[in-house]
Amino acid sequence: MRFSEACERNKEPILHVLRQWLPPQARVLEVGSGSGQHAVHVVRQLAGVQWQPSDRAEYLADLRERIALEGREGLAPGAQLADPQELDVDRAEQWPRGPYEAVFSANTTHIMEAASVPCLLAGAARVLAPGGLLLLYGPFLGGGVPTAPSNAAFDAHLRSLDPAMGLRDAQAVNEQALSLGLEALADEAMPANNRTLVFRKRGAAVG
Ligand SMILES: C[S@@+](CC[C@H](N)C(=O)[O-])C[C@H]1O[C@@H](n2cnc3c(N)ncnc32)[C@H](O)[C@@H]1O
Repeated sequence: MRFSEACERNKEPILHVLRQWLPPQARVLEVGSGSGQHAVHVVRQLAGVQWQPSDRAEYLADLRERIALEGREGLAPGAQLADPQELDVDRAEQWPRGPYEAVFSANTTHIMEAASVPCLLAGAARVLAPGGLLLLYGPFLGGGVPTAPSNAAFDAHLRSLDPAMGLRDAQAVNEQALSLGLEALADEAMPANNRTLVFRKRGAAVG
């Protein structure tokens, strides 16, 4: 099973942000769940949440294993964790129908190809209920926040491995999101120079 040390470090700050933003009984689609550690942590802590993990085909077996082993016990009251679903953001037909009150994705925008980021934003805009939230956690550049040396080094490292990877510019993401009907609501500072970008689909507020 995949295991991420970074996930262990950031799962509590991420839970804190989710608590702050998610409405009660939120239906949440997680994109690029990876090891599934966030999914398990959230459903154990957040009463009433309905969590749908997902990832690309190559991650699914490991993800399903964690959910089967750890995601069936100790859930918070009323919380539900669905079986992981295959979802590559580039493949419009793999997106579930929704509606969801929130789409959450951690540490994915710098790993997926730059051209996939608008696919993530467009997919989220399609499946969110009016007023629903998109929360993107990870390292970003720009958007009025000075670039930490560790993020500049990480960006250079990723691009040396594959020019299609790299940290995304938060202002560019905001502009793409806006063109798809998602308004930038917040840019939350997170530990270790990470951020959570919060967007809301135009329409009535949820919660
Ligand atoms: C660094 S891992 C992060 C995993 C997990 N969210 C976490 O925070 O530990 C990057 C994730 O992005 C996912 N990813 C990359 N490209 C993707 C795409 N086109 N569609 C969906 N997920 C993608 C990978 O499959 C992987 O799960």
